[in-house]
Amino acid sequence: NNNRIIPPLKSNYDVIPNIQTLVPQSDFFVLSKNTIINTINNDSKELNYFINNNKLINTNIENEIVLKIDENIEGNNEGYSLEIKPNLISLIANSNEGIHRGIQTIKQLALLNQNEGNLFIPCAEIKDFPRFEHRGMLLDCARHFFSVEVVKKYIDLLSFYKMNTLHWHLTEDQGWRIEIDKYPKLTSHGAFRMVDNDSVYGGFYTKQQIKDIVQYAESKYINIIPEIELPGHSQAAISSYKHLSCTGEQVEVVNDWGVFKEIYCAGNDSVFVFLEDVLTEVIELFPSKYIHIGGDEAPKTRWEQCHKCQKRIKEENLHDEHELQSYFIKRIQTFLKSKGKELIGWDEILEGGLAEGAIVQSWRGMNGGIQAAKNGNKAIMSPTSHAYFDYDLKSIDLQKVYSFDPIPKELNEEEKKYIIGGECNLWSERIPTEENLDSKVFPRIFGMTEVLWNYPKNKDFKTFNQKVQSQYPLLEHYNVAYGEESIPFTYYIEPHLNSSNITLKPYSEQIKLKYRMLCPTCDSTFQVYSDKILIKHSGELQVQALKNDKEYGELASLYFDTHRGINSTIEYQKKYSDYYTGGGDKGLCDGKLGSLDFRDGSWQGFWGHDFECILDVGAKNEAFEIAANFYQYNNSWIFIPTEISAEVSHDKITWEKFGSTTSDNDPKQRGKFIKTLSIKRDKSMVFRYIRFKAKNIGKVPDWHEAAGSDAWIFIDEISVK
Ligand code: ACM
Ligand code: ZN
Repeated sequence: NNNRIIPPLKSNYDVIPNIQTLVPQSDFFVLSKNTIINTINNDSKELNYFINNNKLINTNIENEIVLKIDENIEGNNEGYSLEIKPNLISLIANSNEGIHRGIQTIKQLALLNQNEGNLFIPCAEIKDFPRFEHRGMLLDCARHFFSVEVVKKYIDLLSFYKMNTLHWHLTEDQGWRIEIDKYPKLTSHGAFRMVDNDSVYGGFYTKQQIKDIVQYAESKYINIIPEIELPGHSQAAISSYKHLSCTGEQVEVVNDWGVFKEIYCAGNDSVFVFLEDVLTEVIELFPSKYIHIGGDEAPKTRWEQCHKCQKRIKEENLHDEHELQSYFIKRIQTFLKSKGKELIGWDEILEGGLAEGAIVQSWRGMNGGIQAAKNGNKAIMSPTSHAYFDYDLKSIDLQKVYSFDPIPKELNEEEKKYIIGGECNLWSERIPTEENLDSKVFPRIFGMTEVLWNYPKNKDFKTFNQKVQSQYPLLEHYNVAYGEESIPFTYYIEPHLNSSNITLKPYSEQIKLKYRMLCPTCDSTFQVYSDKILIKHSGELQVQALKNDKEYGELASLYFDTHRGINSTIEYQKKYSDYYTGGGDKGLCDGKLGSLDFRDGSWQGFWGHDFECILDVGAKNEAFEIAANFYQYNNSWIFIPTEISAEVSHDKITWEKFGSTTSDNDPKQRGKFIKTLSIKRDKSMVFRYIRFKAKNIGKVPDWHEAAGSDAWIFIDEISVK
């Protein structure tokens, strides 16, 4: 068996996260079945499994890998040093954990340097260690349920990319996912929600499955932090045991997304008995020194009306419901402490007074972490701006994640030490399947692990992105249905008279674009994009990105309305929101229509007031119809206006009524939709200016969970015909 051994032409060191110090050397170590693994004081299972799983051939090369723990080596317990020579690899660390991290480097280098069926490990001298001690991913198995196999796959992937924490979100309004012996209805009832009246969605992990997962994670040096949410996000538990709420009324396991007002009663001692029982069983299952108790998004509506909660406020000399929440958290923390556990909570646990020693997970920006650190509490950073991988690529792409700095500038050297790391959060409202999960996590998690392990001083996205390209074959090897690095292209629009030019800008040099326009008189064959596209007709512009000649991302559809008001000048009575600008002052008259994604950049948002503007459409314009598109998504307080009206003028002094239309919209209708409100006349009018108004419904109505809040108007394009 004299197999020819052909090493790759060039050594590839594109390990992610980047190695702290690496001195490349020429030549390779050839990994084969003959390779002797010499373990001095630890086990070699992980490496043996890797070799067997890659079906390596026998060679007649004699070589050896030595794994050695040397407790005298200084440095943190995840650090390791690795010397790779043609016939000998020696991996030394001061703990098993360090050995495990180093083995991941060996595995990655081997997979990055495959050639002709052999695995080569390029020679080098390596010293590596993580910059942050807490490097995690939150997996929400409550909004959608993921199987034991998927959880284990993610434990593998986290380990392979040198993360060390799985934050496991196990309880929610939409489902309770962990078996608790003392309260069997939590899973027999609370793990299932009714979808559309006739089908049931749900699932849970048995204690045996959890033990199995925890043991598996330990073998991969991943710590699992269970999250048991309180006092909010607890409707599935309340649905199972109704005495846990303030009202005691029967409620459903929720089949919708959002924040719900049924929360645990803070005045009822039997709630604390329940939670302590639950946490006792949780602690028996999870060796983690940290237990996450949520604490976020707990509306105080029920507590305000509950005599038991109000009695507690009086008896405990609390000022308000925020201090009652703080009382709640502190009481749970005291219990956890008695069991030798530390509490982690979302940044809301700062409100009403932070418990001593509690760890804050900062999500509403960086502020929670800053406050915690200044207060001498540890903090984990996972701000919505960089770490919410459930968000789409428009808000958070690979480059954005890579730009993340978990350490806020506001902190001094002493305070900075309290920032123990970060997490990326995979909330699963919009992640129903394993494939969706893969595409949300990868490749963005590369940015996160790079920041948390390596903490690059001088970031260079181009170089980093090059390394990311090397990782795709590895993801394929591990059956990961990875997604895109970013939205494939951006665009800008130059409105002209009755038409618009659109310029498409690909995200990178590797991306090519093709497009076609769909309209009754358009040629519907795809064309390669080279220069700006002139839009002369109303219709749909479809754009498909290609990378390496393969479709990259989904087909994009942009809708246009080429009406007479394009390129008008607009004066607002009150300006649009800074968050929803619709692309600025030309946004309502650029011919491009907003899509069903209200964050697509086309919609202009107006919060808490009516919409009113004056459009200058140019002298002697004539029209039969003035219309506009509006958006409704009442979960986000966006409502179709109740009425629109238009007046026209030649001089902005005398105005004539063009017409008005009341809306027949149902504000209760859930979901996201667009409605056109139109004012049509039998006889046209001639004018230069239009004063256009849309009436806001005012306050969010009584039946809504956010009743009394200011409502939004979302508008895109005022169409003149
Ligand atoms: C959160 O996203 N509600 C922590
Ligand atoms: Zn109560």
